[in-house]
Amino acid sequence: TNIILLGPPGAGKGTQARRLVEERGMVQLSTGDMLREAKESGTEMGNKVAEVMAKGQLVTDEIVIGLIEEKLAADEGTGFIFDGFPRTLAQADALGHSLSRMGQKLDAVVEMKVDDEALVERITGRFTCGNCGEVYHDKTKPTKVEGTCDVCGSTNLKRRADDNADSLRTRLMEYYKKTSPLLGYYYHSGDLFQVDGLAEIGEVAGAIARVLDQQG
Ligand code: AP5
Ligand code: ZN
Repeated sequence: TNIILLGPPGAGKGTQARRLVEERGMVQLSTGDMLREAKESGTEMGNKVAEVMAKGQLVTDEIVIGLIEEKLAADEGTGFIFDGFPRTLAQADALGHSLSRMGQKLDAVVEMKVDDEALVERITGRFTCGNCGEVYHDKTKPTKVEGTCDVCGSTNLKRRADDNADSLRTRLMEYYKKTSPLLGYYYHSGDLFQVDGLAEIGEVAGAIARVLDQQG
């Protein structure tokens, strides 16, 4: 089963993708994570994208499609969760082509619906474990012991450079301008399902599981 989690910054894509990896053994392909890794590795491409990301703008289709194709070629399908990809119509077309070349298809596109006010709260309260990647929130998902990751015990908890009000405004604009047209694109192909992203994390997971069981 291959699915796309589609939604604005802070909708909960990463949180739900990690659950699906754990519960169903699917493979999470997060272009945001891949780009942040490229940044950490300090390659020329990494340095170039770091600036663009910090401002909240989209990285070029060419770079992102290249990263995804590399991962698709390396991983054999237990099912992919596309998290934060595609974000433009050109990326959606490229994904369609890659999957059909591999003899695979898209089973569902899950739109996670949330309102802008909630997104500000979510983004400004978010922190993640620098070691295992677990995603937390100051209010809705704090760590059990302050300053220590529940999952791996690491004390390396971090906040993202683009999780500030200014960059968030740009990220939202980019979403509405360039990514939201994908909703129409996938609605027409009959692959679109909507879930209420404002519900509790476990309830959202249940709604996504129902879509998967029905489609997979
Ligand atoms: P990316 O890393 O993809 O970030 P994003 O889309 O902005 O999404 P986020 O990671 O911010 O949010 P999320 O939906 O995963 O929410 P999360 O689960 O963390 O992209 C970053 C940048 O990289 C882009 O701006 C761009 O520059 C570049 N980029 C990436 N992909 C690209 C592409 N394809 N093309 C071009 N450029 C690309 O949850 C958020 C918070 O809310 C957390 O604190 C969490 O604990 C909490 N939370 C989650 N669910 C709930 C819930 N149900 N109730 C209460 N709290 C919740
Ligand atoms: Zn951890």
